[in-house]
Amino acid sequence: MPELTRLWHYQRPKLAARLLDRALQQERVALFGPRQTGKTSLLREELIPLARDRGALAVYIECWADKTDPLGSINYALTKALDDLNVPDSPTGRKLRRPVTRVGALGATLQLGEPPKRTLPASKFLQIDALITEILARVKGPVVLVFDEFQAIATGADADAASAALRAALTQASKRVGAIFSGSSEVLLLETFSRARAPLYGFASPEPYPLLGEDFAGHVARKFRQATTRELPLVEAMDTLALLGHQPEPFLNAVNNMMANPKWSLADGLRAMLDPQVRNKWTINWFGLTALQQCALRLVFEEKPPTARDSLAWVAGLLGGKEVAASSITRALEALVDKGLVARDLLGGGRRYVVGDPVMAAWLRQNQKLLPVPDDA
Ligand SMILES: Nc1ncnc2c1ncn2[C@@H]1O[C@H](COP(=O)(O)OP(=O)(O)OP(=O)(O)O)[C@@H](O)[C@H]1O
Ligand SMILES: [Mg+2]
Repeated sequence: MPELTRLWHYQRPKLAARLLDRALQQERVALFGPRQTGKTSLLREELIPLARDRGALAVYIECWADKTDPLGSINYALTKALDDLNVPDSPTGRKLRRPVTRVGALGATLQLGEPPKRTLPASKFLQIDALITEILARVKGPVVLVFDEFQAIATGADADAASAALRAALTQASKRVGAIFSGSSEVLLLETFSRARAPLYGFASPEPYPLLGEDFAGHVARKFRQATTRELPLVEAMDTLALLGHQPEPFLNAVNNMMANPKWSLADGLRAMLDPQVRNKWTINWFGLTALQQCALRLVFEEKPPTARDSLAWVAGLLGGKEVAASSITRALEALVDKGLVARDLLGGGRRYVVGDPVMAAWLRQNQKLLPVPDDA
């Protein structure tokens, strides 16, 4: 399967260029969108190479490289970028370290002269500013910082101090540095920039990530026709893509199944993908849950109030008749939130739970009859 996502990768050069143009004008953009819809791929595989082609220094920053320390992760990525610039034979160094007289050709150009010895402040909250300052001293021209998994900055014990440090460092560099913030938690990311009391309030313009839609489905249908001489009906492809929350990977997985079985429709390919006998992330998710968690997930999926008396009675019946306390279900729900399988529905004031991943929802729909097996059975 990974081959197909690679071979059939759908490029969006206009989208990448549009986003990059904004970053090159020193804008700060918060690109938010649902999980697994191709945000990281767009940034890493299209936007960053394009930025480099245009002579900008583009740095990809994985804020979750150290999950316990997002700011440390940011500093680490900046240090690596700086080291790369300082190595004369590195691709970045070679490209950006041109004599000043050749600025016109490449835009981003290293200033002449030996780099001064680096003396970084001990505090990581000050290091970020020192690192950005030093990067700017090394290159002429624009710098684009791409922060991925940026919601991480809002978590952790020093979240406010880390956000404030980042804000200060980027503000003082705002004449030459553009930034794109993206991440796998749409809600947290939006909150980071839109909650009035958050340290990064208003610091970036929120921009919805455009989901892969009809163009992508058409591209896959063309590839499918070339590979099989059969047709992949576009309407069916679009419906399936929507059902899967516009996630390219499971969509291509279903198409792949259809391709391997000459008599199959896309619906058959999808059914095979969601088969509980098949080892994939959704079956692994389900079978990795305790029976109580499976019950709680079912209740959320069926939109039943999980701690209502009827729900508790239903769970008790499934699990062998023993009484089930509302607090046990609440704990099971919290475990499901931690695993990323259910989310608090913000529209419902955060009190209602929903199945977060549309593919998991499709899996639960297909496998309605698969009942939780009591843990001690
Ligand atoms: N344009 C595309 N064409 C085909 N496949 C793609 C495309 N973009 C992404 N994919 C595939 O979809 C999967 C998810 O992509 P990616 O990790 O970029 O999504 P994401 O939105 O960053 O996810 P997360 O929210 O979990 O960080 C990967 O397997 C990737 O190869
Ligand atoms: Mg990602």
